[in-house]
Amino acid sequence: MAAAVSSGLAAAAMAAVASSPTTGVQTKSSSSSCSSLTRCMALVPASSSNVGMSSFTPGLGSCSKGSHAIARGRRVVAAPRASTKVDVSKGEKMREGAKTPAKETLLTPRFYTTDFDEMEAMLTVEGNPNYREEEFLALLNEFKTDYNQTHFVRNSEFKEAAEKLQGAPRAILLEFLERSCTAEFSGFLLYKELGRRLKKTNPIVAEIFTLMSRDEARHAGFLNKAMADFNMALDLGFLTKTRKYTFFKPKYILYTTYLSEKIGYWRYITINRHLQDKPEHIIFPIFKYFFNWCQDENRHGDFCSALLKCHPQVVKDWQAKLWCRFFCLSKINEESAGPSSFRN
Ligand SMILES: [Fe+2]
Ligand SMILES: [Fe+2]
Repeated sequence: MAAAVSSGLAAAAMAAVASSPTTGVQTKSSSSSCSSLTRCMALVPASSSNVGMSSFTPGLGSCSKGSHAIARGRRVVAAPRASTKVDVSKGEKMREGAKTPAKETLLTPRFYTTDFDEMEAMLTVEGNPNYREEEFLALLNEFKTDYNQTHFVRNSEFKEAAEKLQGAPRAILLEFLERSCTAEFSGFLLYKELGRRLKKTNPIVAEIFTLMSRDEARHAGFLNKAMADFNMALDLGFLTKTRKYTFFKPKYILYTTYLSEKIGYWRYITINRHLQDKPEHIIFPIFKYFFNWCQDENRHGDFCSALLKCHPQVVKDWQAKLWCRFFCLSKINEESAGPSSFRN
């Protein structure tokens, strides 16, 4: 997830309607959060150790199984769960030297949770004439191929470029890296949990979600390692446990993940094309990785599109069309906003 479900204005705009109990959108504290962080790291292939995934998990400890439940009205909503709770009030802290996360605003990336029980019911195969198994099997084969397994390998250019970069470009790049890293990591958390929760209901779709979480972990790790070149790496384990999670109903998760992935693709490919024309503007080597990177996002978007096709009712009636336009405009606005440094 590049532009990510995580990023902001879609969430912000949704937050504007969060007070309505029928919208299915709300936020909750994430003092407990994704259970699976440590297990997720095991999914990252050995090549990804190059991107510093191990730096995500200091002090997380082992994960317990299952999810805890939070009450929403009369319904019970499963939310990701951390086995080791961080209690900031008791003085638990970020890893020493980690960057303090940027203050959350309407435009900063968010972490998301959903009603996993409802999502399970929605994505069950039985009784759904629109579910085309051959399409999902073809997608699964694509993800298993793992085209970018050896793509995200760092070199000495990163540290050298970080040392040279000063002033406004340095600040703008760092904000870009942090927003992107948080957004990618948000996708990792959500997809990982969906992969875990859907295993029994729809094992093919579950496996694809798990493989997408592998990709997002790799992307987030690569970005965080780049932040480490500036001595500004995030403590993503701490962030997982302390950041607020925004609740979206499953159908809104489908809209926003689809849009985030496709907009993410276009964002990376547009930057890539611009820099191919003007290579002198490549101020940091991470941009050289965007062409292959955006292919991951495009594949993710294709999968989200296949999920939407299984549920034409969520995109075809007049209310769905309004929601789709709303999310699309929200995402476009959000992407147009860019780093705050550009707006000052
Ligand atoms: Fe991604
Ligand atoms: Fe993605």
